[in-house]
Amino acid sequence: MSTFVIIAIDGGAASGKSSTSRLLAERFNLLHVDTGSFYRAVTAELLRAGVKTDDVDGVRAAVAGLKFGTRIEGRSARMEINGRVPPEAEIRGAEVTAAVSHFAAIPEVRAALLAYQRGQADVGREKGFRGLVMEGRDIGSVIFPDADFRFFLHADPEERAKRRALEGRQDAVAERDRLDASRKTAPLARPEGATDIDSTHLTLEQVVDRLSADIAVRLPL
Ligand code: DC
Repeated sequence: MSTFVIIAIDGGAASGKSSTSRLLAERFNLLHVDTGSFYRAVTAELLRAGVKTDDVDGVRAAVAGLKFGTRIEGRSARMEINGRVPPEAEIRGAEVTAAVSHFAAIPEVRAALLAYQRGQADVGREKGFRGLVMEGRDIGSVIFPDADFRFFLHADPEERAKRRALEGRQDAVAERDRLDASRKTAPLARPEGATDIDSTHLTLEQVVDRLSADIAVRLPL
């Protein structure tokens, strides 16, 4: 049993992964790694470079020129690309949100991020965290299949659309899920053996308490 605990949380768009992960990171002193923000940061860079989603050679060449680093802000890992952290307003904007699933389906983009994502465990250890909570679509299946805990969050589509609307964000939740679940490489799916949590009728606090009860067995509060 490792002393640095790895928690994988997968789920569709607006399934509550980010809020849950952030609160778990606070409760247990974990590094919070939002891998969706990494795909968004890369998408922002590719769009800035004028690369189109259907130009796979262009994407491959552009991605090869990106140098990734990590900046820790509070308990969150922010991706640095060629020395710059793309601002939240840019990576959460409508243009990046509409393009990200298309870039994320390209195997070369995923391959470029694989080692970087696994390397976040070293970042977390070096910075003195007790573990990391990593959220995404393929964390429990591809990035950390041997994670100490693997959870899969979901909620009814109407509930998820409502959550995004409340945040004032423009996001075609169902369409992104369709693209993310149908791609060939590392599709969105519940990893075998992961604990399934349906958050449709649960408050955020109830979800966090539910996951915390499992985690606290390994990491006493
Ligand atoms: O978590 P998010 O909605 O911010 O993620 C944005 C997109 O990034 C998502 O639609 C698909 C992609 N993504 C992915 O393919 N694999 C991950 N592990 C995380 C995100």
